[in-house]
Amino acid sequence: VNERHVGVFDSGVGGLTVARELLRQLPEENLLYLGDTARVPYGPRGGATITRFALELVQFLLDREVKALVVACNSISASAIESIRRLSPVPVIDVIEPTVRAAVAATRTGRIGIIGTVSTVASGVYERHAAALDSDLQVIAQACPLLVPIAEEGLADHAVAHLMAEEYVARFREEAVDVLILGCTHYPLLKPVLADVLGPGVQLIDSAGPTISDLATLLRRRGLERSGAPHHRFCVTDASYKFLQIATAMLGADVSDQVEQVCVELPAGEGLPGCILPDLVPAMV
Ligand code: DGL
Repeated sequence: VNERHVGVFDSGVGGLTVARELLRQLPEENLLYLGDTARVPYGPRGGATITRFALELVQFLLDREVKALVVACNSISASAIESIRRLSPVPVIDVIEPTVRAAVAATRTGRIGIIGTVSTVASGVYERHAAALDSDLQVIAQACPLLVPIAEEGLADHAVAHLMAEEYVARFREEAVDVLILGCTHYPLLKPVLADVLGPGVQLIDSAGPTISDLATLLRRRGLERSGAPHHRFCVTDASYKFLQIATAMLGADVSDQVEQVCVELPAGEGLPGCILPDLVPAMV
């Protein structure tokens, strides 16, 4: 069992921010990443659709016998975590709960901001988790629907990222929050521009660190750790040039020979035979 992969999944490239942390904290674990690049973004969709998509991703990973699942997507977690836990016989680590714990530990004023997709913010899941830890906390939430497409397009350094960051997060300067949760795994890709708009008085809380720390504890407690040179795989549902471009930039390595395009929508989540992304990609990297 220990040799099996850890399954990390997201609607697209965002979960790579969590995968990168897995490679950093647990460098000997085998990673199986799944990004639903054919159907991203999930954030503007309703809960039933997100749950249906998410269960297809989970089934795909379970069919490949992962030893644990990391839900590296807040929108999936907010809508589907209970359905995922019901379906999965292997342990499931979620991004939201560890991130709220980190934010609660970091705040001095008790005023916490959170930015996320429309579905995540509408679910109220952050407010519920924070209230469960401390009912005096104040949580101020803001949906940022355009930030995911900006991140997926690799436009983090473009003026449009600055414009939209100003539009969405400038209010937090007046709200006097001292921590802001990046409640979407795509947002760490936009960290510099968000930090720039918010200034030094607001600490940004990224879900990758706390989530992977929880995974590390879980693997250790259950005796599921592995050692030795790892073998990683990256599966995407669409041969998007952006995935390879962003994955290469983020992971600091060319992963093109580890990327395959798969189909998750077949009955029982059966994957198509893996195919390596075409050669048109390197020019974009
Ligand atoms: N990265 C995802 C999240 O954490 C979702 C982005 C999307 O597909 O809208 O919410």
